[in-house]
Amino acid sequence: MQVNPEFDGSESFIFTAADESQTATLGTALAEVLPAGTTVALSGTLGAGKTRLVQAVAGAAGVNPREVVSPTFVLIQEYSGRRKIVHVDAYRLKDVDEFFALGPEEYFASDALVLVEWADRVLEALPAERIDVHIEVLGTTRRRFEIRAVGEKYREVIADLRSMLPDGGSC
Ligand SMILES: Nc1ncnc2c1ncn2[C@@H]1O[C@H](COP(=O)(O)OP(=O)(O)O)[C@@H](O)[C@H]1O
Ligand SMILES: [Mg+2]
Repeated sequence: MQVNPEFDGSESFIFTAADESQTATLGTALAEVLPAGTTVALSGTLGAGKTRLVQAVAGAAGVNPREVVSPTFVLIQEYSGRRKIVHVDAYRLKDVDEFFALGPEEYFASDALVLVEWADRVLEALPAERIDVHIEVLGTTRRRFEIRAVGEKYREVIADLRSMLPDGGSC
């Protein structure tokens, strides 16, 4: 039952993963529904599961997940599977100018799927329309993912996710 009729529920989706295999399920679903050229802004504390989720998305797109590690020394990594994936880790960036110096617009304008860890540190440099994923640690293996469409363009992604995965709970 719709509790609040004002809320159409279309722009955000909550997924709770009971363990890593369910995080992988979310990653597979994201790889399926995210259109080419989407930027995904990932936030959450150290060890929340940002890199794990990127591994799952990349793995579902045909990239060897072992290739996917937090880009500690290289700030931007590119993987080629069935689709092109760009993996950014903003953790070690001094400031947003250092990020701008890497020429990120080129990646955002391409048809690659761009996944940015520690996105909150470089928010002003990210495309205005994007998908935000915030991860919260609920327990040793339990994680809450809030997936939000920022801007009109990606509302359909949320609807697609809702049709594939249980909203709120785990699968
Ligand atoms: N459901 C889960 N989803 C993702 N990671 C999990 C989960 N349960 C336990 N973990 C563990 O949490 C850690 C997440 O690490 P990582 O993905 O590198 O975090 P981050 O990139 O956010 O710092 C890993 O050690 C992983 O094994
Ligand atoms: Mg990481």
